[in-house]
Amino acid sequence: MTTVAVDQPRILIIDDEIGPRESLRMLLKTDYQVFTADSVEAGLNLLKEKNPDTIVMDIRMPGITGIEGLRKIREIDPDVSVIMLTGFGALDTAKEALRLGANDYLSKPFDASEMRSVISRYVDRTRLQRQSLNAAAEIKELNNRLLQELAQKERLASLGQASAEFVHDLGNPLTIVWGYVQMLAKRLEKSEGGADKAGSPLNELNIIEEKVRTCRELLTMWSSYGSADSVRHKTISVSSIVRDVISGADAVAEQSGVSLKANICDDPCTLFGDPLQIKRAMQNVIVNAVQACSDKHGTVTVTCTRKDFYVDLVVEDNGAGITPAQMQKIFEPYFTTKQTKSGTGLGLYITKKVVEDHHGSIKVDSTPDVGTTFVIRLPLQTT
Ligand SMILES: Nc1ncnc2c1ncn2[C@@H]1O[C@H](COP(=O)(O)OP(=O)(O)OP(=O)(O)O)[C@@H](O)[C@H]1O
Ligand SMILES: [Mg+2]
Repeated sequence: MTTVAVDQPRILIIDDEIGPRESLRMLLKTDYQVFTADSVEAGLNLLKEKNPDTIVMDIRMPGITGIEGLRKIREIDPDVSVIMLTGFGALDTAKEALRLGANDYLSKPFDASEMRSVISRYVDRTRLQRQSLNAAAEIKELNNRLLQELAQKERLASLGQASAEFVHDLGNPLTIVWGYVQMLAKRLEKSEGGADKAGSPLNELNIIEEKVRTCRELLTMWSSYGSADSVRHKTISVSSIVRDVISGADAVAEQSGVSLKANICDDPCTLFGDPLQIKRAMQNVIVNAVQACSDKHGTVTVTCTRKDFYVDLVVEDNGAGITPAQMQKIFEPYFTTKQTKSGTGLGLYITKKVVEDHHGSIKVDSTPDVGTTFVIRLPLQTT
């Protein structure tokens, strides 16, 4: 039994005469995987199938000649080395073969040691040529990837500039809204005699006030983004933040005909972190889930469970789901399937960043048309 090394170079011999064909096979079989063909047609099939490193081909054959065969070989594989075998007095044909892309020629009858050394040289040549082509393709791919990353960074940088202006421009009207909301709340309280009556518009006004406060806090956070002040970590309760986010998302869910269910553990689930950032992260995932099942009027279930050293926030929906192709991209900035609904595609990118800044992880499992489950895991304070 002969054992063949996986990476043993491959030689294809094309010759209609059995004598030279078999003597070449005997000569080369210890160092190479050898394939033989008795016609150009059979040789071309083996070329496609076996991807040889070097071809040794007789120049004169009945039917398709070696010269025509050479043309066809070059159409299939421009890189494989081809050595032509010429008969006595066929120098002109040999020169023609070189012109058409053969790499070398040897005359019959050939000298065994010369044949071995020529083949070994051309096997090396083909392999080097293929390696450099592969390297060039890899460099091209790497270059494209780097260009894409650069374009993405440029977009983020210009967003940073735009957001500075946005923060500035939004600050003033928001302060005015804040003032009016408080004024309105006071007036209502007075006219209702201070009582917290059921069905009173004061309840909705309190929610508006709370949301405007969040907007102002977000603006403050953005205006100090990047400065040392932006690190605003403190001891926070994840479960109360989740409750808070759910009470804010309730109205959106109701308007979209989505049922929002929550199962929040009693443990405060405390960790050292930035409350506003954690709120943003959770809000993005919960709002995405509500949006994903608004067409179906589906259900979103939010569960917050304390485990030994961490808390799991699970957001499960029975909405549209995410296809495998989309799944590759959902955490990339600007990837959105909500172009018509003015999605920016920054939600999950921000969420992942926030979760990772808090040493946590985010995982997704989804089946198109069935639903999606996001799990955010955050490590808790241990002391
Ligand atoms: N629960 C989900 N079900 C189905 N698809 C989802 C879900 N969550 C996210 N996706 C997909 O991931 C994409 C990216 O989400 P991401 O929150 O980053 O941006 P967005 O929701 O499109 O826009 P924005 O958050 O800025 O409004 C979405 O457009 C959507 O295709
Ligand atoms: Mg989103």
